[in-house]
Amino acid sequence: MSATTADPRSGAAYQGATAESIRHHYDVSNDFYALWLDDDLTYTCALWDLQDPADTLEAAQRRKLDHLIEGARAAGARRVLDVGCGWGSLLRRLVQEHGVQRAVGLTLSDSQAESLARRAVPGTEVRVENWLDHQPEEPYDAIISIGAFEHFARQGLSRAERVAAYREFFERCRAWLPAGGRLALQTNIKGNNVRMDKQTVRDLLFIIEMIFPESEIPALSEVLEASEKIFDVVSLRNDADHYARTCREWRDRLRAQRAAAVECVGEETYAHFDRYLNATVGHFRNRHLGLSRMVFEAV
Ligand SMILES: C[S@@+](CC[C@H](N)C(=O)[O-])C[C@H]1O[C@@H](n2cnc3c(N)ncnc32)[C@H](O)[C@@H]1O
Repeated sequence: MSATTADPRSGAAYQGATAESIRHHYDVSNDFYALWLDDDLTYTCALWDLQDPADTLEAAQRRKLDHLIEGARAAGARRVLDVGCGWGSLLRRLVQEHGVQRAVGLTLSDSQAESLARRAVPGTEVRVENWLDHQPEEPYDAIISIGAFEHFARQGLSRAERVAAYREFFERCRAWLPAGGRLALQTNIKGNNVRMDKQTVRDLLFIIEMIFPESEIPALSEVLEASEKIFDVVSLRNDADHYARTCREWRDRLRAQRAAAVECVGEETYAHFDRYLNATVGHFRNRHLGLSRMVFEAV
């Protein structure tokens, strides 16, 4: 399934990262990611108890999932959609801990879908499908999307084009929800500190070109503008320090597994991931990047 597919009903062309670019990052190797992510392979910012130095990545990831599940009022729901489901930690948590009957996940990564198919959990379903092509047979009670929005508008678009691309996403979500239904969305956002040294600029360019090609971090104002007259904002928090700690933990775990990681993906890819994770700790600490967790309610 190509991420550039035009929607058959509206003819809208997809403005986000192509499936090829998504696979460039996420299909590196499932075994590689398992070396440094938490035990349930969640690959997005955790929700830490920042006062507790002994808090663990595993606990912080579960806390994050529960926070978004609560925000979306997804517990006990019949049908929940996860847009950008990764390796499926949210899908599993929804059905195993929160009594959801059917949790449907969308991803553009074949490796993630294969891994999910191998661990098939009753009540979960994964589709290698762009949200733009998704045509559910029934509406959903709640929608959650964690760390996928950064891929929904590619590099080089104007602000107006990005807002239009994000608006398409909000319109689709609205059409799949009842009035009052909720969408919990977590995404990186641009930080408000625009003063950068040369190394920061170099590292950001490296990440755009080598790590997440065709993706662009949205400005918070773009996300909000795109949702206007479709959703009310119920809550919004910026957790940049939580992503700094998450990336620091991933970097340290990766370094501790250096030999195994190099065996999985080779020296060059190892070095790229080490540089990206290490630089990103600083980007969040210095507020060149932010992390937004938002809950929207369909109007
Ligand atoms: C950083 S991962 C996050 C995975 C998961 N939500 C988590 O927290 O671990 C981004 C996910 O978004 C998916 N994705 C990106 N663009 C997409 C699109 N247009 N349609 C569906 N999934 C998409 C990727 O395939 C990947 O699974």
